[in-house]
Order: sequence, then C-alpha cells, then structure tokens
Amino acid sequence: MMTAMKGEVSGPSKWWLLQVVTNATLGSFQFGYNLAVLNTCLKMIVLLMKWCGQDELTAECDAARNRDGAITAGVFVGAAVGCLLGGRWMHRGRRRTLMIAHLLFIVGSLLSAASLDFWSLLLSRIIVGVGVGVATVAVPMYISEVTPADKRGAYGVMNQLLITVGIMVAIALGNVQRNDPQDWPSPDTIPTREALWWRFMLGFSAVPSIISLTIFLFVFPFETPHFLVEEGKADQALPILEKMYCTSGEADAEAQTAQAKLDDIQRNVEERRASEKKTVGLFDAFRDPWYRYALLVGWVLSAFQQLSGINAFIAASNHIFEQAGFTGGRATLLSTCMGVMNVILTLVTVKAIDWAGRRKLLVIGTIGQFVATAPTAVLLLIGSGAVSAGVMIWLPVASVFGYVVFFAIAYGPVLWVYLNEIYPVEIKGPAVGSASALNWVACIAVVFLTKVLNNTLIFSIFSCCSLFACVFVFLFVLETSGVSIDESPYLKGRPSDSTAASKAKIDSLSGKQAIAEIPRAAE
Ligand code: GLC
Repeated sequence: MMTAMKGEVSGPSKWWLLQVVTNATLGSFQFGYNLAVLNTCLKMIVLLMKWCGQDELTAECDAARNRDGAITAGVFVGAAVGCLLGGRWMHRGRRRTLMIAHLLFIVGSLLSAASLDFWSLLLSRIIVGVGVGVATVAVPMYISEVTPADKRGAYGVMNQLLITVGIMVAIALGNVQRNDPQDWPSPDTIPTREALWWRFMLGFSAVPSIISLTIFLFVFPFETPHFLVEEGKADQALPILEKMYCTSGEADAEAQTAQAKLDDIQRNVEERRASEKKTVGLFDAFRDPWYRYALLVGWVLSAFQQLSGINAFIAASNHIFEQAGFTGGRATLLSTCMGVMNVILTLVTVKAIDWAGRRKLLVIGTIGQFVATAPTAVLLLIGSGAVSAGVMIWLPVASVFGYVVFFAIAYGPVLWVYLNEIYPVEIKGPAVGSASALNWVACIAVVFLTKVLNNTLIFSIFSCCSLFACVFVFLFVLETSGVSIDESPYLKGRPSDSTAASKAKIDSLSGKQAIAEIPRAAE
C-alpha cells in the first residue's frame, strides 16, 4: 500500500503530520484521563459497592480506604509494568505497540464499566494501567520518529498537551455528578443517572481507543521510517519520509531531502550492524560507561519529574487547599482552574521547546518550581504566626499555581520529548521503558505519601526535589534540540567499537572518565 505512494509528493507536510501526531496522542489522552478519572468517581464507587456505610464516608472507614487505595495503586503499578513491556515491544513495531495499548484500553475500560465487585474492578484497572504504561513509552517514541528534527520538539509537546487535556476532561466529567455522594440518604435513593455515571466515566475511555485503532488500521497503516529501515524495508520508508519533508511544494527538492534522510538512517543502521551492535539489553547497556551516562540522566530526570510533586498537586490538590482553609466547593473550583491552566500553559511550550531548547527550559522550569514552593515551605516550617492569616490561606494556593505554571512550560512536556532523543536506537526501547517505569514508581510514592503528610512536609520535600533537579540539569544534561535522533549527544566522541582496540578502550574507561570525555553542551 505504501509503495504506491512512492515519489508522490503532494502538498505541505504540516497537515499530514498534524493528523498522524494527533492520532498518536489519543494514547496520551488515555494516560491523562485514566490517571485522573478515579479521583472524581471513587467516592461514588465506594458508596454504591457498599464498601462502607453512608455515614462512614467522611469518617474513618478502613475497608473503603484500603480498597480505594488498592484500585488507585492498581492503575499505577499496571502502568509501571506496562512501561517495561512497552519498551520491549517497541522493537517489534511502534504502530503495533500503540495498537496493543489501545486494545488494552478498550478491554480494561469496558470491563471497568461492567464490574460488579472489588476484584473485577481491580483487575480491569490493572489492565488499563498496563495500557497507560505502554502508551507512556510508545507515543513519544512514535512521534519522535515520524516528525522532522527541527519540528520534533513542537510535535512532541502534543503528547503532554493531550495528557493535560485527558486530566482536564476527567475532572470535568467528575463535576457532572454531585460532588458529595454522602449527601444522599442511602445508596438505594441515588438517582439512576448518578448511580450509573461512574460506569460511563470508566467506560468512556474505550471511545478514543476505538477511534485510534481504526485510524491505525485503515488510515495510517504504516510503521515509522526508522523501524522500517531497521527491518530492511527502506522502500516502504521512503514514501513516509517524502510526506514528512513535503514542505516547499517543490517536488524535486523534497524528493531529494527525503532520499537524503533515508540515506542518513540507512547509514546509521549499517554502521551499527558493521560494529555488531544489535539490540542491547538494559544490563549490558549499563555496563558500558557511555550508555550508562545516558541511562542515569534519563532515570534521574524521569524520577525527579514526579518527586518534585506534580501528581501530589494534581491528585491531592483538594486535600492541600482544604488544609489551607478552603472548603468543599471552593477547593474543587481551584483544582478545576489549575487543570485548565495546565492545558493552556502547555501550549506555550509548543513554540518554546525548539526555540529555547530543552536544557534551558528545564533549568528555568525547575528554578521556577523551587521559587514557587520554597517560601511556603519556609513559612510553614517557621510557623504561621510569622505572617497574617490571610497570607497563610493564599500562600499554598499561590504556590501550587506558580508551581504548575513552571511545570507546564518545562518539566512536564520536555521530559517525554527528551527521553526519546538521548538513547541510540539499539538501547532505546528498554532505556525509555525503564525511565518511564521509574516515573510511575515515583508517582506512586508521591501520591501515597501526600495522603499521609501535612502541607509543611509536602512543600519542604517537593521544593528540595525541584532544587536538586535544577542542579542536576545544569551539571549533567546535554542539549538535543535540532540534533538527529540517530545521534545521541551523550555518545558523541564514543570510540567505534568495531575494533578490538576500541572495545578495550571502552572497557578500560571508568564511568567518570567516560563522562569527562563527552563534550559538555555549550549553552
Ligand atoms: C506529566 C507527568 C504526569 C502528570 C502530567 C501533568 O505528563 O508525567 O505524571 O500527571 O505531566 O500535567
């Protein structure tokens, strides 16, 4: 089917790229939606499944707390496992892996909507969680391979944009039902529409997946050019590259650009084959100091995206606002504003990421996160007597909003783009998979810690983590903006290991020496 497109250079690539990337980001929507959906409907589920009595909903109810904790954790743990699986599956096809993620979403969402008890709900949420993990890895990698280098950042940010849209839609749908199910006299008096709403919310997530699966099957039934060349199908990669680089309207020039890109990819693949570098497993990669540096950077960046607290603010913002003194409806309203702001500000990065570069944005963003949270941490630590009560109420709110502004323009979108730019193809799947899995493990720790910590500790820990992330980025992170995804800056200067001598050189380098040999990215 694709070979029929060969040589056909029709119209600008912008529209085509937008469609291909938008379809891929339906997987990102699922990430955000399923991350946030339980927040707003769990109370209703607890009540309707009679895990605890009506009067116990606001008070202590161990049975409900353990079960709703387990269901939330089911999605997160499933996602961590899904990242590792997705990382492995990517070597067998990018589109294929995305399609598997959508199948998991469809099965998991429909089972969730139909579940009758705790165990069936738990199982279905784990299935959805695995889908979320697979999409976490697969969407950014797919986007990075179907977009030209100078636009990769902007299109990559669409992944984060749709994550934030997913979060916002889940919060919005949650607001349709009454916020306080304990207001009803008993579960039996809840109107049918309200009683069924949570089933709609969980089942709704099948819809984007059915759409995306259909598009992958019938509209964009191709793998990425990199994957096709790896598989020895360069003839099928060329027409896709022609679509990607079809920008000037001059057919000859565009065909030449596409051919030149194909030659680049082929050269890289051949060099790798000549040096007998096939797919390298995670453990072997970690033993090589050059790969190790890139792996460590990805792991630390990924873990600290979560440890600096974003999902505490997303998942527990109500808890934080209520502690500050805003009750019920006012706290929910503030959380909804925060969700909307998160989406709008992510849009800023679509332009900024290729213009300012990943490294600069990360430094600015993490400094901003620190500055937004540190004063609140200090004031809470030295005691609320130091400032007026009015300030103490608004300070946590200003902190959370300030934090989200800086997160939305930098760490949120940049991490997912960056992870797909720093690993050479032979370790890419497992490397991105392990970094993403760590992201979810850190997310679990943060969300559950937030439930038991008070605001003083929450703000102190998260502001320290933002500071650490900033120093780390400044010292160790290299720029990738405009660099081909076949040329990881972390491997620049790496001796070719096609000869025994260079192999010996690599083996003899300690991690520190290897790092010292890598030229620092000039600002
Ligand atoms: C990033 C994080 C995700 C978070 C989201 C919020 O995508 O990885 O965990 O929920 O940003 O915008």
